[in-house]
Amino acid sequence: AGPCDLYSSGGTPCIAAHSTTRALYNAFTGALYQVKRGSDNTTTTIAPLSAGGVANAAAQDSFCASTTCLITIIYDQSGHGNHLAQAPKGAFSGPESNGADNLASAIGAPVTLNGQKAYGVFVSPGTGYRNNAAKDTAKGDVAEGMYAVLDGTHYNGGCCFDYGNAETSSLDTGNGHMEAIYFGDNSGWGTGAGSGPWLMADLENGLFSGSDPKNNAADPSISSRFFTAVVKGGPNQWALRGANAASGSLSTYYSGVRPKASGYNPMSKEGAIILGIGGDNSNGAQGTFYEGVMTTGYPSDATDNLVQANVVGARYATTSLTSGPALAIGSSISLRATTAGYTTRYLAHTGATVNTQIVSSSSSTGLKQQASWTVRSGLANSACLSFESKDTAGSYIRHYNWELQLNANDGSKQFHEDATFCPQAGLNGQGSSIRAWSFPTRFFRHYNNVTYTGSNGGVHFYDAATSFNNDVSWAISTGFA
Ligand code: AHR
Ligand code: AHR
Ligand code: AHR
Repeated sequence: AGPCDLYSSGGTPCIAAHSTTRALYNAFTGALYQVKRGSDNTTTTIAPLSAGGVANAAAQDSFCASTTCLITIIYDQSGHGNHLAQAPKGAFSGPESNGADNLASAIGAPVTLNGQKAYGVFVSPGTGYRNNAAKDTAKGDVAEGMYAVLDGTHYNGGCCFDYGNAETSSLDTGNGHMEAIYFGDNSGWGTGAGSGPWLMADLENGLFSGSDPKNNAADPSISSRFFTAVVKGGPNQWALRGANAASGSLSTYYSGVRPKASGYNPMSKEGAIILGIGGDNSNGAQGTFYEGVMTTGYPSDATDNLVQANVVGARYATTSLTSGPALAIGSSISLRATTAGYTTRYLAHTGATVNTQIVSSSSSTGLKQQASWTVRSGLANSACLSFESKDTAGSYIRHYNWELQLNANDGSKQFHEDATFCPQAGLNGQGSSIRAWSFPTRFFRHYNNVTYTGSNGGVHFYDAATSFNNDVSWAISTGFA
């Protein structure tokens, strides 16, 4: 059985079921998600390999070969039509030109389920999905349940990496107008034990770890790579439960009455569905979503427990984030542009500015050093890489306002994430394309001989689709110095 078969048996059926990794019903054979590729802006749908099975990641890989792909729709498997698509502008605007949020890269969150490759939804700040016309979701004080499988190591303190019930207007309409899973280390409202990240419930104008709006010491900091999050709520009753999604059983972090603050009892749920954002389209958060559902009715703990066992049985595991030519940790490399007319130019720096410069064996020692980079284990994720300057030890290539800069490592989580990059086989068939770990739609790109993290066809001049594949493909050799 799949998770939604279990909820049905428990008398609290799914009214929304979202996953890019697998079918959530035993008999489900339909579309799981849609991707759009950058080369021609066409779309395709990805279905399970077999009824109830893992997504056909190979179909995505072949459709997206030698280009970029975005996840455009996450289909509802429940039959209620509650699909998730690009979130529109709300009280807050997203980064797209019409104020909409970004779509997620289709390759940011590769995993395996029982050994078969699949892709999750890697939400960077600015990314969000929504359905403001969802049907059969809980409204007012009516009971509902939800669970999601998340990456317990991908989070931040921005508002708000959520999945669940929110406002139909994309505006903050007041306390109690949301009921969603929140995951991250935002400490502006509630907190749990330690420094986070925590599972909390986003109930609007507050992230709640229990009945006390400020703190629940029984809500633990999460450290498992895969995390099962459960939020459920009904009349003056709600609960937070969680577990390592790869082993073991759910613990109850809170179960009891509604928060002791005005506006949360009774609730005023509106029934839209959000993923990766807050109710008012706050879009500063990051996280990774693999699967999740919403139910009608308050699921029993016994049903949640069966769902957790099912998730463990799916055997989520990590897989490689990189491809293409191997880059040895500790080696010195050079990266040469492959765009016609620019092939004598190498990735280099002038002070803090990272650019391309013409370098050859007869260049000065100084220039050779400026164009040589030491490969380091990724500062934020050792499955990817960081690039330390040859002539300025302790300084690394990082993106800042999407520009590549050479900055000293200040030891912060933000710096480490901005300086972590995942090489993949070059999009134009040459060398490597170097993806920002925390913004996997973005790659090292030269434009007017200055370098950025560009996205294919995005809103900035350095996102131009023209020449994108060439400008993001770098031939890698031994460093000049
Ligand atoms: O409740 C936390 C956040 O506050 C909500 O997600 C958002 O709508 C508001 O800004
Ligand atoms: O480069 C994009 C963002 O700009 C970085 O993640 C952040 O450090 C800066 O605000
Ligand atoms: O960086 C040199 C060139 O500048 C790029 O190839 C092109 O896209 C831009 O005009």
